[in-house]
Amino acid sequence: MEAFRIVGGARLSGDVRVTGAKNSVLKLMAAALLAEGTTTLYEVPTILDVEYMAELLRRLGCEVVHDAEARSVAITVPAVPSHKADYDLVRKLRASINVLGPLLARCGEADVALPGGDNIGSRGLDMHVAGLERLGATVRSEHGYLIATRDDQLHGASVWLDFPSVGATENLLMAAVLAKGTTVIDNAAREPEICDICHMLVAMGAQIDGIGTSTLTIEGVDSLSPVEHTTVPDRLVAGTWAVAAVMTRGDITIQRARADHLEIALDKLVSAGATVDEVADGVRVRCADRPRAIDVVTLPYPGFPTDLQPQFIALNSIARGAAMVTENLFEARFRFVNEMVRLGADVRTDGHHAFVRGKEKLSGAPVEAADIRAGAGLVLAGLVAEGTTTVYEPHHVDRGYEGFIDDLVRLGADVSRVQVNQLA
Ligand code: UD1
Repeated sequence: MEAFRIVGGARLSGDVRVTGAKNSVLKLMAAALLAEGTTTLYEVPTILDVEYMAELLRRLGCEVVHDAEARSVAITVPAVPSHKADYDLVRKLRASINVLGPLLARCGEADVALPGGDNIGSRGLDMHVAGLERLGATVRSEHGYLIATRDDQLHGASVWLDFPSVGATENLLMAAVLAKGTTVIDNAAREPEICDICHMLVAMGAQIDGIGTSTLTIEGVDSLSPVEHTTVPDRLVAGTWAVAAVMTRGDITIQRARADHLEIALDKLVSAGATVDEVADGVRVRCADRPRAIDVVTLPYPGFPTDLQPQFIALNSIARGAAMVTENLFEARFRFVNEMVRLGADVRTDGHHAFVRGKEKLSGAPVEAADIRAGAGLVLAGLVAEGTTTVYEPHHVDRGYEGFIDDLVRLGADVSRVQVNQLA
């Protein structure tokens, strides 16, 4: 078993480069299923989730070649992919539900095991199912699988989402691009990752209007062609580095970070006392003094991202003053607060609010990462805690952060990946 060992106290400074977004590339890989032939994706991060998705596509009959050095993945899709996505892989990542829409559109049937992924809340699929049914699919749940079929072609329809769900918007988009007629998705999610998949689909030959807005209008086409596409930079990894700069009173230039995708988060950091500058190919974040505590409320994009909530709790826990953090998307994301308390943080939760009183110092302790972002938040806390922090279950962090430990070391942190039996 592995763990991250962090000796707190270093000020991080230097450059770090952000690759493509995990939350985009996994869906782009699923979207490749929509066209026979070879689709090539660039700026693909070397992270566990990409390997899981590659394996899932192989099981569906695709050939997948991941060239880590070139940061590319080439996916060759057969004329008729298999339509069954098995439990053993699907349980490892939530994004595997995104093969549902493309398989249904391409094969007329999709059997997808109910997904796993981060343990951050109930994560329903009702909007995916209701939307696909509006397009003419029949969906039932049997023996742990969602089985979606269509009699004939899917047909266009108006779909109003109760909530701008990222996953449901993506699945409906990927089903609607090959449906007959016009689909309107209202109250659609408009995360940069949604825009990314829309741009790729348009390059494949899809007709989509309203990209970047909450109303997407899709005119179905008969077939799509494979493409080459560069993945949008990971705003959540970039945001994590930005918080690291502020917490360690450091100075980090985050290459390829898109300030326009991180507006609220960067604005919050400025309110906390940071200096944020857009530079040639990225964003520079620095902070000379102890940051001020800052309230955040998570909301769908362009609101404050839930995936940066644990990192901001970590920041508030060493800030001057007190702050309220409100989580509106995933109730279980506050589970990680117990681990922060082990590091000496003063955090209390009440429903979907966490009240954080900043302390001058945290104190290093053994803690456990329960999901990707909780793991990132704990690493950040460890960087500023006195003494040694050991973060167990680091594979969660590996699912979303390429070369995290190497980057931290380059920026000056005293961090290593250790075998647990080396810890004594
Ligand atoms: C994606 C991201 C995740 C991010 C989240 C919100 C991936 C792989 N994951 O997750 O990192 O935190 O967006 O930005 O891209 N819901 C339902 N019924 C549904 C669908 C969703 O109740 O049919 C609920 C969920 O339980 C959750 C909320 O809606 O409370 C948001 O979910 P959604 O936007 O779908 O997130 P994911 O696509 O799962």
